[in-house]
Amino acid sequence: MTKYHIEKNTVQETLIIPLYGRKVCSEKFPHLFKDPEAERICDGLDYNFSEKGKKMESGAGLFGALEVAQRQYDIACEVRDYLKTHPRAAVVNLGCGLDDTFRKCDNGVCRGYNIDMPDVIEIRNALLPPAQRETNLALDLNDDKWMDRIDAGDGAIFYATGVFYYFKLEDVKALFCKMARRFPGAVLAFDACNRRGARMMTKTWLKEAGITDVGTFFSLESASELEGWSADFSEVSSKSYMRGYRDIYCDVSLLHKLMIRFCDSLVKMIIVKIRFREDAT
Ligand SMILES: C[S@@+](CC[C@H](N)C(=O)[O-])C[C@H]1O[C@@H](n2cnc3c(N)ncnc32)[C@H](O)[C@@H]1O
Repeated sequence: MTKYHIEKNTVQETLIIPLYGRKVCSEKFPHLFKDPEAERICDGLDYNFSEKGKKMESGAGLFGALEVAQRQYDIACEVRDYLKTHPRAAVVNLGCGLDDTFRKCDNGVCRGYNIDMPDVIEIRNALLPPAQRETNLALDLNDDKWMDRIDAGDGAIFYATGVFYYFKLEDVKALFCKMARRFPGAVLAFDACNRRGARMMTKTWLKEAGITDVGTFFSLESASELEGWSADFSEVSSKSYMRGYRDIYCDVSLLHKLMIRFCDSLVKMIIVKIRFREDAT
């Protein structure tokens, strides 16, 4: 079987963490997360997982796995919710890596778009080739060209998981403002944490992408900070990442309960939802 190489110490490599985390959760918490696809995709990669495997065996490492699996669950809730009122909508995964949320939420009539850098889309095309009504786009999110490729005539739900931590604050702001103008009535959902959380990530996740100074990168103390960004946002809301969509507090160990509390109160890990005005300026 051909195995697809993932280059170490690149932004591309960051897709390994959520993918492998979902596989680990599927093994360790099968009552909470079942993800046989994550296991299949990991098997298709030429990548030495032993270092990540060792890290995820510790209590703290396993919590990282829980976070990424829970995050996918949260975002899938937002996608399914939007599809209830816009069944034929565009379901757009920004910085998709090897995440298959569209397939998990596919209602048989919506359309999926998965956007990432060309090297990632090459691997995605091999391991997760586009299914019916699904398109993989090898484009940079910081270049507006990707917007021309989205047919949002029946509505659009955009989502990003683990992506904006790698973006400069000013680029995130420019992106959201352009999206709001370009896609009136659409919804954008993504995960965020505060500066303390981002600083903690520089020791782990962000380090792999070569980011050591988070000063100019995106983080949020509160979702309300986004309200003033654009007159084209009609509503900004947020929920706890670990407890807002499905509360797993009672299903995890004491250490993980403490870590959930820490994430809520001190790191402010949230899922943010922005609704764009129907009548954009
Ligand atoms: C941590 S991974 C998350 C992958 C996926 N969302 C998940 O949760 O499994 C971050 C992804 O964002 C992609 N990415 C980062 N900057 C990007 C950009 N400017 N344009 C498109 N994709 C980008 C990376 O290539 C990588 O696949």
